[in-house]
Amino acid sequence: MKNLLSIEQLDRPEIEEIFRVAAMQKQNRGKQTEFPLRGQTWGLIFSKPSTRTRVSFEVGVRELGGETIFLNPNDIQLGRGELIKDTARVLGRMIHGAIIRTFAQRDIEEFAEFSGMPTINALTDDEHPCQILADIFTIQEKRGSIEGKTITFVGDGASNTARSWMFAAGKLNFELRLASPPKYQPKAKWLKRAGGNVVCNANLQEAARGADVLYTDIWVSMGQEGEEARRNAELGPYWINEALVRQAKPDALVMHCLPAHRGQEIDDATLEANAQTIFDQSENRLHVQKAILLAVGS
Ligand code: CP
Ligand code: NVA
Repeated sequence: MKNLLSIEQLDRPEIEEIFRVAAMQKQNRGKQTEFPLRGQTWGLIFSKPSTRTRVSFEVGVRELGGETIFLNPNDIQLGRGELIKDTARVLGRMIHGAIIRTFAQRDIEEFAEFSGMPTINALTDDEHPCQILADIFTIQEKRGSIEGKTITFVGDGASNTARSWMFAAGKLNFELRLASPPKYQPKAKWLKRAGGNVVCNANLQEAARGADVLYTDIWVSMGQEGEEARRNAELGPYWINEALVRQAKPDALVMHCLPAHRGQEIDDATLEANAQTIFDQSENRLHVQKAILLAVGS
Protein backbone atom coordinates (compact mmCIF):
# COMPACT_ATOMS: atom_id res chain seq x y z
CA MET A 1 0.00 0.00 0.00
CA LYS A 2 1.62 3.22 -1.17
CA ASN A 3 -0.84 5.86 0.06
CA LEU A 4 -3.91 6.14 2.22
CA LEU A 5 -6.07 8.67 0.42
CA SER A 6 -9.51 7.14 0.80
CA ILE A 7 -11.28 4.14 2.31
CA GLU A 8 -12.70 3.61 -1.17
CA GLN A 9 -9.20 2.62 -2.37
CA LEU A 10 -8.62 0.03 0.37
CA ASP A 11 -9.58 -3.61 0.22
CA ARG A 12 -10.75 -5.71 3.11
CA PRO A 13 -7.44 -7.55 3.74
CA GLU A 14 -5.60 -4.19 3.85
CA ILE A 15 -8.07 -2.87 6.43
CA GLU A 16 -7.81 -6.04 8.50
CA GLU A 17 -4.01 -5.82 8.41
CA ILE A 18 -4.16 -2.21 9.66
CA PHE A 19 -6.33 -3.37 12.58
CA ARG A 20 -4.00 -6.29 13.36
CA VAL A 21 -0.92 -4.05 13.46
CA ALA A 22 -2.80 -1.36 15.41
CA ALA A 23 -3.69 -3.87 18.12
CA MET A 24 -0.02 -4.86 18.40
CA GLN A 25 1.08 -1.23 18.50
CA LYS A 26 -1.42 -0.54 21.26
CA GLN A 27 -0.34 -3.53 23.30
CA ASN A 28 3.39 -2.83 22.90
CA ARG A 29 3.37 0.94 23.29
CA GLY A 30 6.51 2.07 25.07
CA LYS A 31 8.08 -1.40 24.85
CA GLN A 32 9.23 -1.40 21.21
CA THR A 33 12.78 -2.30 20.38
CA GLU A 34 12.49 -1.60 16.64
CA PHE A 35 12.05 1.83 15.12
CA PRO A 36 11.11 1.35 11.46
CA LEU A 37 10.87 5.08 10.63
CA ARG A 38 14.36 5.85 12.01
CA GLY A 39 16.16 8.31 9.75
CA GLN A 40 12.90 9.47 8.16
CA THR A 41 11.23 12.88 8.26
CA TRP A 42 7.48 13.16 7.64
CA GLY A 43 5.79 16.44 6.74
CA LEU A 44 2.39 17.46 8.06
CA ILE A 45 0.71 19.99 5.76
CA PHE A 46 -2.53 21.14 7.39
CA SER A 47 -4.78 23.77 5.79
CA LYS A 48 -7.44 23.32 8.49
CA PRO A 49 -7.15 23.25 12.31
CA SER A 50 -6.60 19.98 14.17
CA THR A 51 -5.99 18.70 17.68
CA ARG A 52 -6.37 14.91 17.51
CA THR A 53 -5.06 14.25 14.02
CA ARG A 54 -2.03 16.48 14.29
CA VAL A 55 -0.96 15.29 17.72
CA SER A 56 -1.59 11.60 17.05
CA PHE A 57 0.42 11.71 13.82
CA GLU A 58 3.28 13.73 15.30
CA VAL A 59 3.51 11.39 18.29
CA GLY A 60 3.00 8.30 16.11
CA VAL A 61 5.84 9.14 13.72
CA ARG A 62 8.17 9.85 16.66
CA GLU A 63 7.26 6.64 18.47
CA LEU A 64 8.17 4.76 15.28
CA GLY A 65 11.58 6.44 15.29
CA GLY A 66 10.98 9.24 12.76
CA GLU A 67 10.84 13.02 12.89
CA THR A 68 8.09 15.40 11.79
CA ILE A 69 7.93 18.90 10.34
CA PHE A 70 4.65 20.78 10.62
CA LEU A 71 4.12 22.93 7.53
CA ASN A 72 1.41 25.55 7.74
CA PRO A 73 0.47 26.29 4.11
CA ASN A 74 0.55 30.01 4.93
CA ASP A 75 4.19 29.76 5.98
CA ILE A 76 5.33 27.99 2.82
CA GLN A 77 5.08 29.17 -0.78
CA LEU A 78 1.95 27.03 -1.31
CA GLY A 79 0.05 29.80 0.47
CA ARG A 80 1.37 32.32 -2.09
CA GLY A 81 0.24 30.28 -5.04
CA GLU A 82 3.05 27.82 -5.71
CA LEU A 83 1.47 24.88 -7.47
CA ILE A 84 0.74 21.66 -5.60
CA LYS A 85 2.59 19.67 -8.23
CA ASP A 86 5.72 21.80 -7.78
CA THR A 87 5.52 21.73 -3.98
CA ALA A 88 5.06 17.97 -4.12
CA ARG A 89 8.10 17.45 -6.35
CA VAL A 90 10.28 19.56 -4.06
CA LEU A 91 9.16 17.88 -0.85
CA GLY A 92 9.37 14.45 -2.46
CA ARG A 93 13.13 14.98 -2.82
CA MET A 94 13.59 15.95 0.82
CA ILE A 95 11.18 14.15 3.11
CA HIS A 96 9.90 10.58 3.32
CA GLY A 97 6.14 10.95 3.59
CA ALA A 98 3.33 13.50 3.80
CA ILE A 99 0.25 13.73 5.98
CA ILE A 100 -2.16 16.26 4.51
CA ARG A 101 -5.34 17.94 5.77
CA THR A 102 -6.98 20.08 3.14
CA PHE A 103 -10.16 20.88 1.23
CA ALA A 104 -10.27 19.16 -2.18
CA GLN A 105 -9.64 15.42 -2.44
CA ARG A 106 -8.13 16.08 -5.86
CA ASP A 107 -5.35 18.09 -4.20
CA ILE A 108 -4.06 15.18 -2.12
CA GLU A 109 -4.32 12.89 -5.13
CA GLU A 110 -2.22 15.35 -7.13
CA PHE A 111 0.27 15.69 -4.28
CA ALA A 112 0.64 11.90 -4.02
CA GLU A 113 1.10 11.56 -7.76
CA PHE A 114 3.77 14.25 -8.12
CA SER A 115 5.65 13.71 -4.84
CA GLY A 116 6.06 9.98 -5.42
CA MET A 117 6.21 9.51 -1.65
CA PRO A 118 3.70 7.95 0.76
CA THR A 119 0.80 10.35 1.28
CA ILE A 120 -1.90 10.08 3.94
CA ASN A 121 -5.27 11.82 3.96
CA ALA A 122 -5.64 13.53 7.34
CA LEU A 123 -9.12 14.84 6.30
CA THR A 124 -10.47 16.39 3.13
CA ASP A 125 -13.92 17.66 2.21
CA ASP A 126 -14.61 14.18 0.81
CA GLU A 127 -13.22 11.77 3.38
CA HIS A 128 -11.71 11.27 6.83
CA PRO A 129 -10.35 7.74 6.45
CA CYS A 130 -8.00 7.67 9.47
CA GLN A 131 -10.88 8.66 11.76
CA ILE A 132 -13.28 6.02 10.54
CA LEU A 133 -10.64 3.27 10.63
CA ALA A 134 -9.93 4.20 14.27
CA ASP A 135 -13.67 4.21 15.00
CA ILE A 136 -14.19 0.74 13.55
CA PHE A 137 -11.14 -0.51 15.45
CA THR A 138 -12.76 0.88 18.63
CA ILE A 139 -16.08 -0.83 17.90
CA GLN A 140 -14.34 -4.14 17.27
CA GLU A 141 -12.34 -3.87 20.51
CA LYS A 142 -15.57 -3.46 22.43
CA ARG A 143 -18.09 -5.55 20.50
CA GLY A 144 -16.19 -7.92 18.16
CA SER A 145 -16.42 -7.96 14.37
CA ILE A 146 -18.37 -5.10 12.80
CA GLU A 147 -19.70 -7.45 10.11
CA GLY A 148 -23.49 -7.66 10.28
CA LYS A 149 -23.82 -4.82 12.78
CA THR A 150 -25.93 -1.68 12.32
CA ILE A 151 -24.30 1.73 12.60
CA THR A 152 -26.59 4.78 12.64
CA PHE A 153 -24.89 8.03 11.64
CA VAL A 154 -26.87 11.05 12.90
CA GLY A 155 -26.49 14.47 11.23
CA ASP A 156 -24.87 15.53 7.98
CA GLY A 157 -24.96 12.38 5.88
CA ALA A 158 -23.11 14.14 3.05
CA SER A 159 -20.08 14.98 5.23
CA ASN A 160 -16.54 13.64 4.95
CA THR A 161 -16.95 11.33 7.96
CA ALA A 162 -20.25 9.96 6.64
CA ARG A 163 -18.64 9.27 3.28
CA SER A 164 -15.77 7.32 4.79
CA TRP A 165 -18.37 5.33 6.75
CA MET A 166 -20.21 4.63 3.49
CA PHE A 167 -17.16 3.16 1.80
CA ALA A 168 -16.33 1.13 4.92
CA ALA A 169 -19.85 -0.37 4.97
CA GLY A 170 -19.33 -1.76 1.48
CA LYS A 171 -15.90 -3.22 2.35
CA LEU A 172 -16.65 -4.68 5.77
CA ASN A 173 -20.25 -5.70 5.24
CA PHE A 174 -22.21 -3.86 7.91
CA GLU A 175 -25.37 -1.80 7.61
CA LEU A 176 -24.91 1.97 7.67
CA ARG A 177 -28.03 4.03 8.28
CA LEU A 178 -27.66 7.72 7.52
CA ALA A 179 -30.20 9.61 9.63
CA SER A 180 -30.26 12.96 7.83
CA PRO A 181 -32.77 15.35 6.31
CA PRO A 182 -33.11 14.69 2.54
CA LYS A 183 -30.95 17.72 1.69
CA TYR A 184 -28.08 16.29 3.76
CA GLN A 185 -28.21 12.80 2.31
CA PRO A 186 -25.44 11.74 -0.07
CA LYS A 187 -25.91 12.17 -3.79
CA ALA A 188 -26.79 9.05 -5.78
CA LYS A 189 -23.29 8.81 -7.29
CA TRP A 190 -21.77 8.34 -3.83
CA LEU A 191 -24.32 5.71 -2.85
CA LYS A 192 -23.49 3.88 -6.06
CA ARG A 193 -19.76 4.12 -5.44
CA ALA A 194 -20.21 2.84 -1.87
CA GLY A 195 -21.64 -0.34 -3.34
CA GLY A 196 -24.57 -1.12 -1.04
CA ASN A 197 -25.23 -1.57 2.70
CA VAL A 198 -26.16 2.14 3.06
CA VAL A 199 -29.72 3.20 3.90
CA CYS A 200 -30.75 6.87 4.03
CA ASN A 201 -33.59 7.66 6.38
CA ALA A 202 -34.88 11.10 7.35
CA ASN A 203 -36.83 9.51 10.22
CA LEU A 204 -34.31 9.67 13.06
CA GLN A 205 -36.23 7.48 15.53
CA GLU A 206 -36.68 4.77 12.94
CA ALA A 207 -33.03 4.94 11.89
CA ALA A 208 -31.87 4.55 15.50
CA ARG A 209 -34.12 1.59 16.29
CA GLY A 210 -32.13 -1.51 17.23
CA ALA A 211 -28.78 0.03 16.21
CA ASP A 212 -25.51 -1.32 17.61
CA VAL A 213 -23.85 2.10 17.36
CA LEU A 214 -25.15 5.68 17.31
CA TYR A 215 -22.51 7.96 15.77
CA THR A 216 -22.42 11.67 15.17
CA ASP A 217 -20.20 14.51 13.96
CA ILE A 218 -20.55 18.28 14.02
CA TRP A 219 -23.17 19.88 11.78
CA VAL A 220 -20.82 22.55 10.41
CA SER A 221 -17.65 21.03 9.02
CA MET A 222 -14.46 23.04 8.57
CA GLY A 223 -14.86 25.25 5.52
CA GLN A 224 -18.66 25.49 5.90
CA GLU A 225 -18.68 28.29 8.47
CA GLY A 226 -20.62 30.56 6.09
CA GLU A 227 -23.54 28.12 6.21
CA GLU A 228 -23.61 27.87 9.99
CA ALA A 229 -27.01 29.45 10.68
CA ARG A 230 -28.74 27.48 7.95
CA ARG A 231 -27.11 24.19 8.91
CA ASN A 232 -27.93 24.63 12.59
CA ALA A 233 -31.57 25.25 11.70
CA GLU A 234 -31.91 22.44 9.17
CA LEU A 235 -29.98 19.81 11.12
CA GLY A 236 -31.45 20.94 14.47
CA PRO A 237 -33.61 17.84 15.06
CA TYR A 238 -30.77 15.43 14.18
CA TRP A 239 -28.95 14.99 17.46
CA ILE A 240 -28.14 12.23 19.92
CA ASN A 241 -29.82 12.51 23.31
CA GLU A 242 -30.91 10.10 26.03
CA ALA A 243 -34.32 9.50 24.42
CA LEU A 244 -32.68 8.55 21.12
CA VAL A 245 -30.24 6.21 22.87
CA ARG A 246 -33.26 4.30 24.24
CA GLN A 247 -34.28 3.48 20.66
CA ALA A 248 -30.99 1.68 20.02
CA LYS A 249 -29.89 -1.70 21.43
CA PRO A 250 -29.54 -1.68 25.24
CA ASP A 251 -25.75 -2.07 24.97
CA ALA A 252 -25.40 0.31 22.01
CA LEU A 253 -22.22 2.35 21.75
CA VAL A 254 -22.54 6.12 21.38
CA MET A 255 -19.65 7.58 19.40
CA HIS A 256 -18.41 10.99 18.30
CA CYS A 257 -15.29 11.77 16.27
CA LEU A 258 -14.87 15.08 18.17
CA PRO A 259 -14.65 18.03 18.50
CA ALA A 260 -18.17 18.07 19.98
CA HIS A 261 -20.65 20.90 20.15
CA ARG A 262 -22.71 20.05 23.21
CA GLY A 263 -26.35 21.00 22.82
CA GLN A 264 -26.13 20.62 19.05
CA GLU A 265 -25.34 17.18 17.58
CA ILE A 266 -25.16 15.61 21.06
CA ASP A 267 -26.23 16.69 24.52
CA ASP A 268 -23.82 17.01 27.41
CA ALA A 269 -25.30 14.19 29.52
CA THR A 270 -25.13 11.69 26.65
CA LEU A 271 -21.58 12.65 25.77
CA GLU A 272 -20.43 12.34 29.38
CA ALA A 273 -22.24 9.02 29.86
CA ASN A 274 -20.30 7.69 26.86
CA ALA A 275 -17.01 9.48 27.45
CA GLN A 276 -15.08 6.23 27.84
CA THR A 277 -15.93 5.11 24.32
CA ILE A 278 -15.58 8.57 22.79
CA PHE A 279 -12.11 9.20 24.21
CA ASP A 280 -11.07 5.64 23.36
CA GLN A 281 -11.87 6.64 19.76
CA SER A 282 -9.45 9.55 20.11
CA GLU A 283 -6.71 7.42 21.66
CA ASN A 284 -7.10 4.78 18.98
CA ARG A 285 -6.26 7.38 16.35
CA LEU A 286 -2.67 7.04 17.55
CA HIS A 287 -2.50 3.24 17.37
CA VAL A 288 -4.35 2.91 14.07
CA GLN A 289 -2.33 5.68 12.43
CA LYS A 290 0.92 4.04 13.52
CA ALA A 291 -0.31 0.96 11.66
CA ILE A 292 -1.14 3.16 8.64
CA LEU A 293 2.33 4.75 8.73
CA LEU A 294 3.88 1.29 8.74
CA ALA A 295 1.61 0.14 5.91
CA VAL A 296 2.52 3.03 3.59
CA GLY A 297 6.01 3.82 4.84
CA SER A 298 7.82 0.52 4.81
N1 CP B 1 -11.53 14.08 14.92
C1 CP B 1 -10.54 14.85 14.42
O1 CP B 1 -10.04 14.64 13.31
O2 CP B 1 -10.16 15.84 15.25
P1 CP B 1 -9.14 17.04 14.90
O3 CP B 1 -9.85 17.95 13.95
O4 CP B 1 -8.87 17.67 16.24
O5 CP B 1 -7.90 16.46 14.28
N1 NVA C 1 -16.76 16.77 9.55
C1 NVA C 1 -15.81 17.43 10.41
C2 NVA C 1 -14.86 16.46 11.02
C3 NVA C 1 -13.94 17.07 12.05
C4 NVA C 1 -12.98 16.09 12.60
C5 NVA C 1 -15.07 18.51 9.63
O1 NVA C 1 -14.70 18.27 8.47
O2 NVA C 1 -14.88 19.60 10.18
